[in-house]
Amino acid sequence: MPSPNRIPYEEDWREWRLIAVTDRGDNRQFRMILGNDVAVKAAREGNVHPWPDGAKFAKIAWWQQQRADGLVVPGAFFQIEMMIKDAQRFRDSDGWGWARWRGVDLKPYGKDATFVQECTGCHLPMRGNDYVYTQPFSAAIVAGDEVVNNAAVRMPQGLSFNPLDWAPVTMYSDPQRHTISVVFADSKEGMTAAASGSAQAVVTWTERDDPHWFGARVADRVVSVETAAADGRSGFIAGSQPAQIP
Ligand code: HEC
Repeated sequence: MPSPNRIPYEEDWREWRLIAVTDRGDNRQFRMILGNDVAVKAAREGNVHPWPDGAKFAKIAWWQQQRADGLVVPGAFFQIEMMIKDAQRFRDSDGWGWARWRGVDLKPYGKDATFVQECTGCHLPMRGNDYVYTQPFSAAIVAGDEVVNNAAVRMPQGLSFNPLDWAPVTMYSDPQRHTISVVFADSKEGMTAAASGSAQAVVTWTERDDPHWFGARVADRVVSVETAAADGRSGFIAGSQPAQIP
C-alpha cells in the first residue's frame, strides 16, 4: 500500500546494505538503517553533501526485548520508514520523499500527505547534513564536522571479506559490555537469509553516544568479527535470534 503522499512501498529494501545501527535506550528500540546501491556508494565515497538523487534509506525498527542471559534482542517489529532523495521532485519536502509503514501488516502512516511535516520537522536540526541523522559507515575522510562513521568500518586485520558487503539479518546488544552486534549473512536474501543456511558473521562494536540524538547509541569501534559456516539446519549463530520482519 502506498503512503498517503503516494510513495510506493518497496520490497527491495531487503537486499539493501547496512549503513548504521542505533540502540535507542530512550525509547527501547533497535533500528537498522539500510541504504540502496546509490546510498551505499555515496556513503563509501563520502559523497553526502548533499546525498545524490536516487539515494534511498530504509530504517527498520523493533522493540527491544531483554533475555534471561542479559542480551537485548529485537522483539516485535515496529515499523519501516523510507527516505528517497530527489531534489527536484521532492523540493517541497527538503529534497526527500518521506514514508512510513507501521506493524507487520505495513499500514501506511498518516491520514493524508501532511504527515510529512512531522518528518521534516524533526529532521530539521540536521539541515546542515542534508536532513540526515545517520552517520553512515564509511572509510572516506570528509572535511568539516564528522558526517560519516570512520571508526566502525575498521575491521580486524587479515579478514578475507568485508561483512558490511553482506546482508544484515539481526542484531543484539550487551548492556554489561556496552557492545552492539549485527549478524550478517553472505546472501542476497537479506533478513530472510536467517533460515537459509548461508555463511554468517557477527560483528561486535563498542557503543558510543549518538552525537545527534540524546539517549541513542551507535556503533563505535569493532571489538570482534566471528564467523560460522552454515550448519545446514538453521545456520544461525548462537546468541542471536532472527529479527521479525513483515
Ligand atoms: C521525533 C523525531 C523524528 C521524527 C518525527 C522522524 N524522525 Fe526520522 N529519524 C530521527 C532520528 C533521531 C533518526 C536517527 C536514527 C535513529 O536513531 O532512529 C532518524 C532517522 C531516519 C531515517 C534514516 C536516515 C537518517 O536521516 O538518519 C529515515 C529513513 C527516517 N528517519 C525517516 C523518517 C520519516 C519517514 C519520518 C516521518 C514519518 C520521520 N523519520 C520522522 C528522528 C525523527
